[in-house]
Amino acid sequence: MNPRKVALLAASIVCIPAVFLLLDARGEDKPAVSGVTFEREVVSILQAKCQECHHPGGSAPMSLVTYGEARPWAQAIKEKVVKRVMPPFYADGPIGYYKDDIRLTEAEIKTICEWVDEGSPRGKPADHPRYMDWSAGSPAQTPDLLLRVRTPYTVKKDGIDDYECFLFNYVFPQDTWIRALDLRPSNKQAVHHEALYIVPDTLKADPDDRISGADTLMNKATLLLFSNPGGLPLLCPEGSAIIIPKGSRLGVEVHYAPSTRDGVVDQPSVGIYYANGVVNRMLRLLYGDQTKIDIPPGEKSYRSVVYKKLKTDAIINGFAAHMHLRGKSFTIRLIYPDGRQETVFALPQFYFNWQRPYHLAKPLAVPKGTVVEYMAEWDNSLQNPFNPDPNQEVHFGPKTSDEMMGGGVSYLIPEEDLGARIKDGVRIGDAGRPAVGINR
Ligand code: HEC
Repeated sequence: MNPRKVALLAASIVCIPAVFLLLDARGEDKPAVSGVTFEREVVSILQAKCQECHHPGGSAPMSLVTYGEARPWAQAIKEKVVKRVMPPFYADGPIGYYKDDIRLTEAEIKTICEWVDEGSPRGKPADHPRYMDWSAGSPAQTPDLLLRVRTPYTVKKDGIDDYECFLFNYVFPQDTWIRALDLRPSNKQAVHHEALYIVPDTLKADPDDRISGADTLMNKATLLLFSNPGGLPLLCPEGSAIIIPKGSRLGVEVHYAPSTRDGVVDQPSVGIYYANGVVNRMLRLLYGDQTKIDIPPGEKSYRSVVYKKLKTDAIINGFAAHMHLRGKSFTIRLIYPDGRQETVFALPQFYFNWQRPYHLAKPLAVPKGTVVEYMAEWDNSLQNPFNPDPNQEVHFGPKTSDEMMGGGVSYLIPEEDLGARIKDGVRIGDAGRPAVGINR
């Protein structure tokens, strides 16, 4: 039995006499009192699963660090955790299957519910675990190259979602090998999510680095990373990298949360971390996409299935799914050469606003010839609260009111052995052979 269960059991044993007393005194069937307090039980859950976004200056709209900050949100917290809307981690499967898995356990949800149902008591301030230091923000590292949009952008204040595309004014002078990337809006609270693309240098931006007509990026570019502020950066496994081709630029599409305030300003930036040392493998993406999408008006469950075959052995390390506002669910299954089938990734409830990569805690080795099945489901009915217009027939297209389907399986090829010697993102030679330039 885990220590948490032992503690709960102990707590319930201690509580029994109190319950009898209550029954005696009131003569009615009152539920047992758990005695859960904010300072003793609840705040540790918030520290582990919520505060990375819910801290002052974090990406979430309110801080949940102190009792005074969390108490007014008690009912909302209960509602969101019971519905599993918060924390925003929507992949299915056993807890621990994914890296950085912040889903709440049943016991944690129960603890939060008991706390709220019993009047959200504070408990003793002395019970508060050490406060966590969120001042540095995340991620803590300093990127090798920081690209920033030149002109800060003022978010529209018409109270509707504002989608903007920006192009970073930096042309990669050579093939650049990178090990990580992260998106860094200057105003985390203004931004709901961002998508980063590799863009050919032929695409031009306005003098403020914005591309008018927000559709252009998605059409002409390769998606690298979808993320929420404070979300996971794109990280290549040890000894692997991705290449940003010579002559390309990076562009970002930002979804600003609806605002009605004056002077909400953001200046998007992206941090780039160069690969260094020997890189043996490329991080690859097997993309399952579909452009034939014809969703009838009001259709509750429109599906599309795409198959892709892995032509080599593969070590799968993560998944992602991309759809627009009618997206309902997404599933990735593997069909092995011996006929065995396995669901390896599922988003039973797809949230357009919370698209992110999900990385496996333990990468999955699969044989050559494995077929990947991507299944997308859309809901074009009134039931879908995000549906902008259930009377519309919906087709493939770049606008959020059109639809898209993209499933990603990121993987390495185990036998790949590039032996590339990389210095600050540039290939300078081959491992085992004298390197050009730095050999002395
Ligand atoms: C990855 C960042 C992130 C994490 C982790 C996170 N939240 Fe949130 N939360 C948000 C954002 C952003 C919003 C704003 C609404 C939205 O975008 O859905 C929000 C909204 C909420 C709301 C609704 C606020 C309102 O205006 O009604 C509650 C309640 C909440 N979060 C509680 C929690 C709790 C409890 C946890 C941990 C168990 C948690 N959140 C974890 C980012 C996060």
